[in-house]
Order: sequence, then C-alpha cells, then structure tokens
Amino acid sequence: MLVVGNWKMHTDFRGAVRLASEVIRLTETDTRAVGVGVCPPFVWLEAVREATRSSRVALGAQNGHPAENGAFTGEVAMSMLGALGCRFVIVGHSERRQVFGEDDAFVGEKVGAAMGQGLVPILCVGETLDERDAGQAEAVVQRQLDGALESVTLDSAESLVVAYEPVWAIGTGRTASPEQAQAMHAFIRARLAARFGDDGRAVVLLYGGSVKPNNAADLFAQPDLDGGLIGGASLDAESFAAIVRAAAQQTEP
Ligand code: PGA
Repeated sequence: MLVVGNWKMHTDFRGAVRLASEVIRLTETDTRAVGVGVCPPFVWLEAVREATRSSRVALGAQNGHPAENGAFTGEVAMSMLGALGCRFVIVGHSERRQVFGEDDAFVGEKVGAAMGQGLVPILCVGETLDERDAGQAEAVVQRQLDGALESVTLDSAESLVVAYEPVWAIGTGRTASPEQAQAMHAFIRARLAARFGDDGRAVVLLYGGSVKPNNAADLFAQPDLDGGLIGGASLDAESFAAIVRAAAQQTEP
C-alpha cells in the first residue's frame, strides 16, 4: 500500500516543515508496511527534504517539465526534481489538464522524462461528471492511459504509479463509492496488464478524490486499490496519518 499527500498550492515555509515533521511522527509506528509520500509546492521541496531526511517519508513534486533544460520560463525539469531528492512526481493531474490545458501527449512526454531521470511518475487519470453521466468514463480513462503510455517502456512494476482520480470527486467531498473505484481500478489494471504484461499488472494503483479518514478503510479494502492520493486531508497531519493507518490495516495478515 502507498499513501501520497498532494499539498497543491498550500502551506507556507514553516507550515510545510511542521506538516512534514508531524507526518513522520504520526506514521512512525504501526504503519511500517505502507509507503508514505508527500508532494509539497516546489519552493518547499528542499526544506521538506531536510525535514524528511532519515525518515521513510518519500518526497514528491506536483509537476515537472519533460525537457531537460531550455527556455521554459517558470518550469522545473525532472532532473532538477531528482537532484532535490524527489522519488515521485505527479503528472497529468486533472487540475493541470483542465486549468493549464495539458493533453495526453504532453502528459506522456512527462511520464517518459520522469522515468528517464529515475523518478516514479504518479500518472493521474479520471473522467468528469459529464463524461461519467454519458457512459464514457472507461473510454476517457483508456484514452488518457493509452495516450500517456504510448511510447513508454516499463522497466519494472515499481517504475510507475497510476492514480485514478474522478474529477467530480476531487475537492468536492463527494467520493467515488468503493464499488465505482474498484470497477475502474480493475479496468485500469487490465489495461496495464495488456500493455506491459505482469509488470503492468503489478503497478501500484492509487485512488484519489475526497479520501478522508472516515471513508479510507472501505476504499482500501477493495482488491484493486493499492492506496490513495490525498489532497485536502493531507494538509492535516492527524487526518493524513489516520488514512495511512487505514492502509496499514489492509497489509495485516
Ligand atoms: P482531494 O484531492 O483529496 O482534496 O479531493 C485529491 C487530489 O487532487 O489529488
């Protein structure tokens, strides 16, 4: 199981360091079998790296540019994220797709560039409510997956994470039901297996979209949910730790 916090454009310098330290303290015991990661804003990555050094909390970035370097004002290259100690980088988050107009091909470039730098991309996919209501949810997710993974070779199952985040569940307090999440996760796993074989089948699949301490256990109990990508609830260390504990329960024999 893996639980990753996406802090989005929240926290200040002190708040970011404090939050990271609290997450370490609250997840130190009882949750060893769960991977834990936090994705602060770019500008706090270094401070959070210091705070998380010698802990098992892994560092991730929320975005990265596919080019190695160049005239891309305001962007941050994957190699720079690697140099800062990031293990993960979120790519294709629906806010990037919707607010910043990123398409599947660009997201795919990011996946390849991240892997090229030894980072693990957390590839986000998910349909809007209109698309779900129109019966298009699987088709949309399939297009996003296939588009982003078209020119990707998977070295191992550990080199990719996929997060299913239905857009209508992000930041809305309205989560997908465990059955809805499971159905889409099974679909994604089958696609990855068809594309990459056994490694694809073993890729960690996160669910994201209004995961809270009170719904995490039911979601994580589903067979194809391997953890969560947590937005709002990751800004509160107690809530985030409670979600990590819910994941830990699934790892107990
Ligand atoms: P949320 O965000 O948990 O606040 O819904 C999830 C995400 O956007 O990754």
